[in-house]
Amino acid sequence: MQPDVMNADAVAAVSAASAPIVRDPFSDCTWIKGLENGVPTGVDRFDPLDPAPRRCPWPWYEWLHRQTPRVYAIPGEGNAWAVSHYEDVQRVLRDTDTFTGNIFHDEPVPLMVALEGQAHRRMRDVVQAVFTPKGIRKLEPVIREVASQRTAALLDAGRCDLVQMWSNPIPLTVIAEVIGYPRDHIDLLYQRGRAANRTFLPLGGTDTVRPRLPWRERLAILRYRMGQVPLLIRLIRKLGWRGTIDTVRMANRMFRRPAWAPPMLASAERAQGLGAVLAFLNEIMDIVHAHMAKPGDEVVDLLIEGHRDGRLSRHEMMITMLFLLIAGYETTAATLANAVALLARHPELYAWLRQDVERIPGFVEEVLRIEASIQRTVRRAKVDTEIAGVRIPKNSLVVVLLGAANVDAARFENPFTFDPERHPKQTMTFGHGAHYCLGAPLARLEAKIALEALVATCERIEIDRDAPPALRVTDWGAGFFGFDRLPVIVHAR
Ligand code: HEM
Repeated sequence: MQPDVMNADAVAAVSAASAPIVRDPFSDCTWIKGLENGVPTGVDRFDPLDPAPRRCPWPWYEWLHRQTPRVYAIPGEGNAWAVSHYEDVQRVLRDTDTFTGNIFHDEPVPLMVALEGQAHRRMRDVVQAVFTPKGIRKLEPVIREVASQRTAALLDAGRCDLVQMWSNPIPLTVIAEVIGYPRDHIDLLYQRGRAANRTFLPLGGTDTVRPRLPWRERLAILRYRMGQVPLLIRLIRKLGWRGTIDTVRMANRMFRRPAWAPPMLASAERAQGLGAVLAFLNEIMDIVHAHMAKPGDEVVDLLIEGHRDGRLSRHEMMITMLFLLIAGYETTAATLANAVALLARHPELYAWLRQDVERIPGFVEEVLRIEASIQRTVRRAKVDTEIAGVRIPKNSLVVVLLGAANVDAARFENPFTFDPERHPKQTMTFGHGAHYCLGAPLARLEAKIALEALVATCERIEIDRDAPPALRVTDWGAGFFGFDRLPVIVHAR
């Protein structure tokens, strides 16, 4: 029996009993584009840039967990390795003397995850202010309001793409509040966020520079760069020469980075993405100036305090706000969509949640474990080292498979069973150690409130199998794992 056609009696029976456990929740993936013929079998290699493990990574993780030696040399790379065991993932993230989030050996990158030591602590302290109980309390009413509005819109539509209608706008609105972006320009913020993630985050790749580009692409880039001149001039006015030069250097470095860059965006598209990022940086500077001139009591004022009291320069302030958009929107949107996709296929789970909303946080934890919305991060070895007996030369890249660590049988019993009452301890979903996600409490709160709004008003939800199939996130970004499209049918209570 297909779970999402389970009859009402069966649902009622299950919901009355103890927590419904879903064994192998991914056995039926035929509703996802590219998996119409089922989940692939016969895995014999792992390439993190391959589209197949991106749609359904678990067979690859199982395969990696069986490999000896357990640190896997990524084929064709020479100096890139994948770690998938919980113990190794934890060690790489914890050991900041040996590994860094800055993949460039010759230049610092001011993004938080790439910073180290004192510079990192300084920036982290400033951002932390937003995620204190006081900061989170300020955000809660916004989350409640947008969750209830978007859920009402979902029910009105009845049949729609959940990503556009619900799982994207909720975290986007919350991030808008965090960085002081006008809430009535959420569509624009969406475009900015997509551009920033796709232009900046294709992290990973050997530390070598893009090969010489064909002249057509170079011309296209030049055209876009010319178009960006007015934006740059405006940025110089707001940020000064020094800050603008730093920004352009950082952008160029990210832009030229490649070699092992995912084959997702052509250079011209990345140049266009940079244009959107520049426009966003201009908007951020306007926000910073407005709040500097007239400090208020909004969440963004907690952040800008770090610039006002001299802990962060204007440039650092701006990049931090950009980073919050990068870090906070798509990750949370993916978690929301992953949760609903599971509920849509398992009505017994949905009925069980509806019985008692106190069960929602536990359910969310298990979604975060088994469907981590960032499947991987990346580190560079600063020195020659060893992981689980494998020699890792200095400047090698280590692809840290957070999602694989979460299904390591050595850490989690029956890892491929979804148990909403498992309450998994210390998953790697939010990272580990010095760079542990600052937004974790916010993401959890958003998921809780959004799902509460859903179960309060929605009787049942199902995958719309007559619509074009669901689409997993189509480009790599930072290893996001969610949906670009999730067609659903929702039934009001
Ligand atoms: C389910 C949603 C989220 C997931 C799965 C997630 C995951 C992660 C992970 C894995 C890291 C560590 C990356 C590394 O070490 O390489 C991280 C860092 C970070 N995240 Fe999140 N995140 C989420 C939501 C958020 C939100 C909502 C915000 C803020 C609005 C946020 C802000 C940050 C920040 C500031 C860092 C950098 C911390 C540092 O470098 O010290 N995240 N996140």
